[in-house]
Amino acid sequence: MNDLGSMRQTERLTSDEAGLARAAEILRGGGLVAFPTETVYGLGADATDAQAVAGIYAAKERPSFNPLISHLDSFESARTQGMFDETARRLAEAFWPGPLTLVVPVAPTCTISDLARAGLDSVGLRVPAHPFAHALLQKAGRPVAAPSANRSGRVSPTDADHVLGDLDGRIDAVLDGGSSQVGVESTIVACLGGAPQLLRPGGVPREAIETLIGMKLEAGQEGGKSPLAPGMLASHYAPRARVRLNAASIEAGEAVLLFGHEAPKGANAARITLNLSKNGDLVEAAAHLFSYLRQLDSSGAATIAVSPIPETGLGEAINDRLRRAAAER
Ligand code: TXA
Ligand code: MG
Repeated sequence: MNDLGSMRQTERLTSDEAGLARAAEILRGGGLVAFPTETVYGLGADATDAQAVAGIYAAKERPSFNPLISHLDSFESARTQGMFDETARRLAEAFWPGPLTLVVPVAPTCTISDLARAGLDSVGLRVPAHPFAHALLQKAGRPVAAPSANRSGRVSPTDADHVLGDLDGRIDAVLDGGSSQVGVESTIVACLGGAPQLLRPGGVPREAIETLIGMKLEAGQEGGKSPLAPGMLASHYAPRARVRLNAASIEAGEAVLLFGHEAPKGANAARITLNLSKNGDLVEAAAHLFSYLRQLDSSGAATIAVSPIPETGLGEAINDRLRRAAAER
């Protein structure tokens, strides 16, 4: 899918050996597969492939990039992606597999793409209990990013028909595994040093978590919704450099983020230049967004100047993130 609206044939797969093998094959090839979990159906893509992750946003028509939860087959696999302190380890051992997501600092061996993490230095990880989800993740052999498999603004789906009602023709396959048992999303707890924070109530009750760890959970807010306050969870990626949007011309020494064929006047005097997509492909641009911002920021330039990006398709989410990066000081 190169932009919103381009159609694919959606396969409906049964949860037998052949269906699971096909679903894993599609995921490994960079495609989109909706699959059952015990909470709700997830819309999965290879979390290590930013282009595949960008496809999730295109299919859902999500107007902004939130960090996504990456799903794994075991705690052992999760440990290669994130760093678990004592509290996180105890929670993982008690509630995984199950409806709990842990937000932890990224591990040095993390392979989950910047886009799936929305550029953050932390990562949301979950080991689902649903047997078909587990089998699929084992076969895929990599972390699978998956928000709920509905279009933006609609309710989370708990069976394959709900998924098709929203996403038929927009994703490669749905793995039919009957109805989700829990029906609400996973509980999200952030363990980032300091007291653990409850970011989202969900399938595991707060009391069960507090009893296990012997302390109250602090109130946190879901990623992407809270302002950046001292001591609070950083909810969006913010570069150190100033960000200047819709740059028509470039000042000497600026770092430049281009889109498309046209370069603004003065771009040859830039300190460093990266192009999100020379062909003007917004899915490719989304896949590069966070890693390119980081590269430009680490050049040491005081300002990152950004070419105009259209507000259509994934451009809306890209511009949303860029506007936040430009505003946050
Ligand atoms: O039950 C569920 O959790 C479902 C099923 C499919 O597993 N998945 C789900 O995923 O709800 P998703 O991607 O929609 O959840 C995203 C939320 C974000 O809004 C944010 O609150 C939190 O997960 N999150 C993920 N990574 C984070 C991070 N690094 N920092 C803060 N919050 C994070
Ligand atoms: Mg959702």
